Amino acid sequence: MMSSPAANITSVLKETRKFPPPGAFSAQAHVKSLAEYEKLWQKAHDDPEGFWALQAESLTWFSKWQKVLEWKEPFAKWFVGGKLNASFNCLDRHLVGPRKNKAALIWEGEPGDSRVLRYQDLHREVCKFANVLKGQGIKASDRVTIYMPMIPELAIAMLACARIGATHSIVFGGFSADAVADRNNDAKARLIITADGGWRRGKVVPLKNNVDGALEKSPTVEKCIVFNRCNQQVHMKQGRDMWWHELMMDASADCPAEPLDSEHPLYILYTSGSTGKPKGVLHTTAGYLLGTSYTHRLVFDLKEEDTYWCTADIGWVTGHSYIIYGPLANGATTLMYEGAPNHPREDRFWEIVEKYRVNTFYTAPTAIRAFHKWGDEWPKKHDLSSLRLLGTVGEPINPEAWMWYHEVIGGKRCPIVDTWWQTETGMIMITPLPGAIPTKPGSATRPLPGIEAEIVDKAGNPLAANQGGLLVIRRPWPAMLRTIYGDDERYRKEYWSHVPHAYFTADGARKDEDGYFWIMGRVDDVLNVAGHRLSTMEVESALVHHKRVAEAAVVGKPDEIKGEGISCFVTLKTGETPTEELKKELQAHVVKEIGALARPDEIRFTESLPKTRSGKIMRRLLRDIASGRQTTGDTTTLEDYSVLARLREEEE
Ligand code: PRX
Repeated sequence: MMSSPAANITSVLKETRKFPPPGAFSAQAHVKSLAEYEKLWQKAHDDPEGFWALQAESLTWFSKWQKVLEWKEPFAKWFVGGKLNASFNCLDRHLVGPRKNKAALIWEGEPGDSRVLRYQDLHREVCKFANVLKGQGIKASDRVTIYMPMIPELAIAMLACARIGATHSIVFGGFSADAVADRNNDAKARLIITADGGWRRGKVVPLKNNVDGALEKSPTVEKCIVFNRCNQQVHMKQGRDMWWHELMMDASADCPAEPLDSEHPLYILYTSGSTGKPKGVLHTTAGYLLGTSYTHRLVFDLKEEDTYWCTADIGWVTGHSYIIYGPLANGATTLMYEGAPNHPREDRFWEIVEKYRVNTFYTAPTAIRAFHKWGDEWPKKHDLSSLRLLGTVGEPINPEAWMWYHEVIGGKRCPIVDTWWQTETGMIMITPLPGAIPTKPGSATRPLPGIEAEIVDKAGNPLAANQGGLLVIRRPWPAMLRTIYGDDERYRKEYWSHVPHAYFTADGARKDEDGYFWIMGRVDDVLNVAGHRLSTMEVESALVHHKRVAEAAVVGKPDEIKGEGISCFVTLKTGETPTEELKKELQAHVVKEIGALARPDEIRFTESLPKTRSGKIMRRLLRDIASGRQTTGDTTTLEDYSVLARLREEEE
């Protein structure tokens, strides 16, 4: 199932439990029944443009669009001719009513400090920082890199960029200096915003030091703004580096939001593909804001009084869409936590739920598996009765973890929304609506109204129920990526050339007899490690960069907590000796080149890699070996297996 994008993928998961939405939940929900969901879906299917135009009324426009959709496959323009501003939609429009004093952002720092920013406060800070950016010569369409910890200033920086039309490119704080430099260069960023450091498990992540390294290789970046989070000693380069608090001191709080075109680039977010360097996924303003706010309202069944918490890092798309843009466009209260779930103890998340009386909690299967492993005593210490809805995202959730989440965290009363989507889709695509669609553990259930998802073979023919195949989206949707930044051709090739006239998700899936989607994982060479996409190619090229490495092949192997672990097969240059020290050195080398999130779980030295006659590495075989499905003999080198591979090839 993880190999080439072939059709007819065999699915082994059989799950028959079904959980209807609790009656009391449905009664108060935005969408109250399966029949109502189906009616909505049909309506959107019959007139997609009319449907989305109606939804778009919920945004505030400076001038209305002339045309809902201009579709020249594979390029979409939504709400053509309209003018609006994402920051205005997330802030200003809430200041005219009772929301002006509502908490926009509740923030909890890892050391235990906390802050609450009301809509008025967030608006003021964003306006001031937008003026700071202008003062540094940043204009609409300039790119700004943001490399920050999970602190309110990250939200302020994003919304300040959006306010003046600068395109932000957020780089997750776990990436290395080299990864930051690559992204600066690809985006041609003019300015970078960072902090001295951020707290993670009681230690300081040295963000500014990493930026110093990155800026040696980032010729386009002229200025660097540094927020003081941890009182670290950092090097400030004169003429380039400036302190956030000093710039903010005399910044004016008057900064009207720029009226921007519907298709104005809002942000770039880099994600892994199966080949080459990371892809800069480009999202634009109106469609993205519509998609995220619409789904945030419906999928999380948003109520005015909700305290909503998405535990993702803003460095990933989940944080962009469901900590910031979706919730704030809806005038919600969004919670943001800086640190690790097990600091100072394994109950930190449950302590936060209890402290703020969180109603909606959205996290990743990898976290749920870790909570499960840490034991029930941690959540049981806390009053979780405020929770009314749970969500998951990032990878398929195994039914066992689902059941634990349902019973121990949700107290059997909270619906679980298992939300399937991607960096590229911008918004949730397949998910139960919590008051309407009965859930089955492990299934993301059905596509949202407006989304045409299908399981097909390579030629695009729909497959019968329960046949595994490729998951595609048949029609453009508002929050879809518009292109890969600077590379329209790669965009066309990666997403619109695999299956005729359909968006290729690179996920394998099946649809059951009830029309429920069961996602089976990626069909390309992309790993899903702890809910994050990592390209095997990137890890391989990092390894091959090392002076003693001749060749490398990287595959995923099952991991109880992370979903997939990273297993590397390495051939050394002639004359080099494989040692335990070298293994450690190579692990550290990958961390330096990509970041801690890519640290290999295991490295195996081999004298040759198993290849087909045409020279393609036989990953299927390596995956078998890595996952322990082939353990003939006590072999730590691959020599025997490469022979085996050649033999196998003869047979095929
Ligand atoms: O394979 C799918 C998996 O994560 C991929 C998208 O990764 P990324 O762009 O990093 O975005 C993650 C957060 C939206 C998908 O192609 N995936 C995501 N959500 C689910 C999932 N697999 C199964 N079930 C999900 N709910």
